[in-house]
Amino acid sequence: MSFPPDFTWGVAAAAYQIEGAAATDGRGPSVWDVFSHEPGKIFEDHHGDVACDHYHRYAEDVALMREMGAQAYRLSLSWPRILPEGTGRVNDKGLAFYDRLVDSLLAAGITPWVTLFHWDLPQALQLRGAWCNREIVDWFGDYTAVVADKLGDRVKHWMTINEPPVVIGLGYHEGMFAPGQKLSFRECLLGSHHLLMAHGRATQVLRARCRGPIKVSLAHTGRERIPATQSAADIAAARRDYFACTAKNMWNLSWWMDPVHLGHYPPEAAEAFGADMPKVTDADLKLIAQPIDFTGYNCYSGWLVRARPDGSPENVPGSWGIGNPRGTLSWLHIAPDATYWAARFIHERYRLPVVFTENGYCNTDFVHLDGRVHDPQRIDFLARYLGAMKRAVAEGVPVAGYFYWSVMDNFEWKEGYKDRFGLIHVDYQTQKRTPKDSYFWYRDLIRTNGANLPTA
Ligand code: FCB
Repeated sequence: MSFPPDFTWGVAAAAYQIEGAAATDGRGPSVWDVFSHEPGKIFEDHHGDVACDHYHRYAEDVALMREMGAQAYRLSLSWPRILPEGTGRVNDKGLAFYDRLVDSLLAAGITPWVTLFHWDLPQALQLRGAWCNREIVDWFGDYTAVVADKLGDRVKHWMTINEPPVVIGLGYHEGMFAPGQKLSFRECLLGSHHLLMAHGRATQVLRARCRGPIKVSLAHTGRERIPATQSAADIAAARRDYFACTAKNMWNLSWWMDPVHLGHYPPEAAEAFGADMPKVTDADLKLIAQPIDFTGYNCYSGWLVRARPDGSPENVPGSWGIGNPRGTLSWLHIAPDATYWAARFIHERYRLPVVFTENGYCNTDFVHLDGRVHDPQRIDFLARYLGAMKRAVAEGVPVAGYFYWSVMDNFEWKEGYKDRFGLIHVDYQTQKRTPKDSYFWYRDLIRTNGANLPTA
């Protein structure tokens, strides 16, 4: 079996992680510029000042994507490159970069899928209260209008925001990511409400200003709950745990996904969060629940869940445990069935086609003596995760696309350049690109539309 003929095989990256050119052509600072220059925040004090220098080398990178046969490229726009102060003055030179990039992608036969916000909030807006300030709904809408007016004649696929729980959870609650704040749970819930409204506003603006029909979503993420067995009880327990909304943290998947898809917060949230719940009006919910066209989802890892005798879910001891196969990042436990269960559970609940907007494997890849980068672990990872995705498709779950994270090694946030996710190796001293073995494996997979991939 192959995938449907219109299935999209893509690769992904994000502005701050690859572009570099942090102070070039009028770009303003983002929260990640500030955070990564604070000593001790990032592995060995790495930062994104130069990164993969993609800003200057995009033509070479697009050529490598074309030779790989990538059908689509998920890129993100740097808000402070376009609006250095976050609002107001447009930096034409910054916008022109994305204009050139989109044109060169289209010329190479690669469809651009554009994310408006992948974490690099303009520092100027951080100083004005960031997500806790309700005005961010307008700021984000105005930024989206500038982008849509410039690129909306050619870009037909949009994602508003990447991984809301990471933005608020790691950035504003746990303080591990930029801007490194530890706000109260209550403030974070308020911020998350504004973030979801900003998504809704951007969706409206894109539809109003882009030319012709477009497809819009956001890129959600969660940790997958994989039923320990195929029994109805274990499947129900895994589903219940996956969509539960009672933990006082930012990691409740349904907190983020229900309002967007169903028009309300999970009913159990009000009871669990009590006075911490933000004031939510019908108009707010209507804005958040703008119709979208697919569910974007970043899928990496997960653990096994089983039913107790009373049906309640419990984690299977050891399924997130010592000696598990993993990537070099501690959270990247290899859980191949993650793609199958994510697609199935998400589609069951939200009824839209699912697009895996990210999935990938990190390691300490280097150029071997023969001048090549051999990465059998990544190929094995891909064969497993894509096999499980193929099973979902074979069973009729509408999975419409897959984007490998990442097209090339890059700045992995808190981990700096330590962990490499790319299909293309980057030598950060020389900026030399070397396609890894997995690049050629993925190229062959795209050519055959996954026909020779075993179904997991
Ligand atoms: C995701 C991010 C992406 C990358 C991968 C490994 O959470 O969206 O930028 O860092 O993890």
